[in-house]
Amino acid sequence: MLALPRTTTDNSLMHRSHGDGTVDRARFRRIGTNVIFEVGSLVFHPENIELGDNIYVGHYAILKGYHKNTMRIGDGTWIGQQCFIHSAGGVTIGRDVGIAPHVRILTSAHEETPRGTPVMHGPLTFAPVALEDGCDVGIGAVILPGVTIGAGAIVGAGAVVTRSVAPFSVVAGVPACFVRMRDD
Ligand SMILES: CC(C)(COP(=O)(O)OP(=O)(O)OC[C@H]1O[C@@H](n2cnc3c(N)ncnc32)[C@H](O)[C@@H]1OP(=O)(O)O)[C@@H](O)C(=O)NCCC(=O)NCCS
Repeated sequence: MLALPRTTTDNSLMHRSHGDGTVDRARFRRIGTNVIFEVGSLVFHPENIELGDNIYVGHYAILKGYHKNTMRIGDGTWIGQQCFIHSAGGVTIGRDVGIAPHVRILTSAHEETPRGTPVMHGPLTFAPVALEDGCDVGIGAVILPGVTIGAGAIVGAGAVVTRSVAPFSVVAGVPACFVRMRDD
């Protein structure tokens, strides 16, 4: 299989589409050049989504914009198959971020209610998530509201990230814990 370069300087080989995902690009608040949506990807509230250049959105990924707040995704970012990114509380994803398949990002949750009231009827609280430039989120990881993943950090496969992660650190597990710092 062809290994694709992960830089934003050689766009000619980046993020080749494998299918025919179509979206109405005119409805986005902003959309750059060479943004690929694969078959089955879904976009909600594109009027509150800003996309840079050379972004890949994999098969069946869901960009769940919201009627308020903004989802921003930077140049060169790769979003794997079946990811779920919910920007009710706001999501900011930097440049060249790798988001493996099945990653889920949440920015809202229902407050706990008295026992007689279904939790899903409780008020929503919102907290933004940020994935800084060059970080990488492993397959199936869950990023909870209010978390920032620092620049160049690595999140292990299957992690549940409950607290912010320092730049260039590696975290893993449930809840995600520090494993090591990356080498220079
Ligand atoms: C987290 C990760 C980066 C750590 O890699 P590493 O630094 O080489 O770590 P090691 O394999 O030496 O493991 C270090 C420790 O972390 C544990 N660990 C590693 N990955 C883990 C994970 N995903 N979840 C929980 N624990 C993990 C190991 O069991 C080991 O524990 P121990 O010290 O008690 O034996 C890597 O295991 C990982 O999960 N990468 C994500 C891969 C991925 O999904 N890529 C996206 C492809 S698109």
